[in-house]
Amino acid sequence: MAKNNYQTPTGMHDLFQKDLEQFAKIEQLAKKIADFYGFEKIETPILEFSEIFEKGTGLSTDIVEKEMYSLKTKGGDFLTLRPEITPGIVRSYNQGGMQNLPKPVRLWYLGPCFRHERPQAGRYRQFNQLGFESLGVGHSIIDAITIQIFYSLLKSLGFKKLAVEVNCIGDSQCRGAFRKALTNYLRAKSSSLCADCRVRLKKNPLRVLDCKEEKCFMVKKNAPQCLDYLCKDCSNHFKGLLEFLEELEIPYTINPYLVRGLDYYTKTVFEIIEDTEEGKAQGSLAGGGRYDGLVKLLGGKDTPACGGAMGVERVVNLIKARTKSQVIDEPSCDVYLIQVGELAKKKALKLFEQLRQANIKTGEGLHKDSLSAQLGSADKMKAKFSLIIGQKEALDNQVIVKEMKTGRQKNVDIDKVIKELKGKI
Ligand code: HAM
Repeated sequence: MAKNNYQTPTGMHDLFQKDLEQFAKIEQLAKKIADFYGFEKIETPILEFSEIFEKGTGLSTDIVEKEMYSLKTKGGDFLTLRPEITPGIVRSYNQGGMQNLPKPVRLWYLGPCFRHERPQAGRYRQFNQLGFESLGVGHSIIDAITIQIFYSLLKSLGFKKLAVEVNCIGDSQCRGAFRKALTNYLRAKSSSLCADCRVRLKKNPLRVLDCKEEKCFMVKKNAPQCLDYLCKDCSNHFKGLLEFLEELEIPYTINPYLVRGLDYYTKTVFEIIEDTEEGKAQGSLAGGGRYDGLVKLLGGKDTPACGGAMGVERVVNLIKARTKSQVIDEPSCDVYLIQVGELAKKKALKLFEQLRQANIKTGEGLHKDSLSAQLGSADKMKAKFSLIIGQKEALDNQVIVKEMKTGRQKNVDIDKVIKELKGKI
């Protein structure tokens, strides 16, 4: 059906109770982990100055080049709906003087991001990221703990087949030599690259390694690897990380062509996917790495940092596929309240409130008049008991309590019915 203005914009979705329950569960789990590791929750604005993404995420990234929702305010400011949250966290770290806090400064967040991408399985234009960032410490043990956090969060959410990919993409010292070697190699093969990658080759050749086009994939296969160009510091850092991951018994593979599509990474990069057909279709569940230059780039002091973010919708999609749960549950109840006649309706309305206060899950058809229609609803909602107030019961201040399974029923005084039910539900 053609889109009209009375539908959600392309790539954006309504979230229903079932989704929101999963979101809440994920958030609860994340909070538990965050509390244990000493992360504090932070919420940054959804709109930030465009410049922090242009500078931070990087001008030559797909995100900044093609995917940002940007606007000029009536006051003349250029703002962007955040396509990711890390630059906002760094902005807040600098703005809030957090560099004076004991290190590492550990922050976590959950909130919406916006990218004008071509929608497909697991790829939306509005989606939520759950992230953990540690600022102020350059040791590789922080990188290992970051990966461990996402790995154990996903494990606790029931993901059994996880694949963790890691790589080291060097720093300002050694990246230059690798970039040169890669550029030379790609130049010689430029006729075999896709049109986008021919442009990337000029602006940012590392991005070519990120391309998913089949023809570029073939070129990438024999490209120089950054691991062969690492300086001593980066090489030791990577070795340290791998040893920590082994100690933590996190099964990882080294993907020498993993570069990730954001410009701020230095040294470690990682991604976690579910290693199943459905999982691969969704794409990475979480990704991140070290970004030792970003705090300074956005106006702060030279500060190492590391973090990652998880796509909440992708995780929820896979949990839903696994549990085959429906989007909206059929409503159900423990008792169903039935009334016939005007006086009974009034008595039922009062009893309905008493049932709510007693925490008894109650279905009702207070707007209905027909007994059989209400009994039908009680069946549909799988009520264990129906409470029936007819005209006679209303006059006698009584309720018929009917056990739906056996059909057995008895009259109970209206003010004793809650006590009567409490023992049975
Ligand atoms: P990213 O890889 O661009 O990294 O996104 C992190 C995660 O967000 C992905 O692994 C994926 O699960 C989810 N995601 C990304 N784009 C979409 C989309 N269009 N639809 C649905 N889910 C999506 C970052 O954003 C970095 N800020 C991560 C980071 C934090 N690095 C260091 N600290």
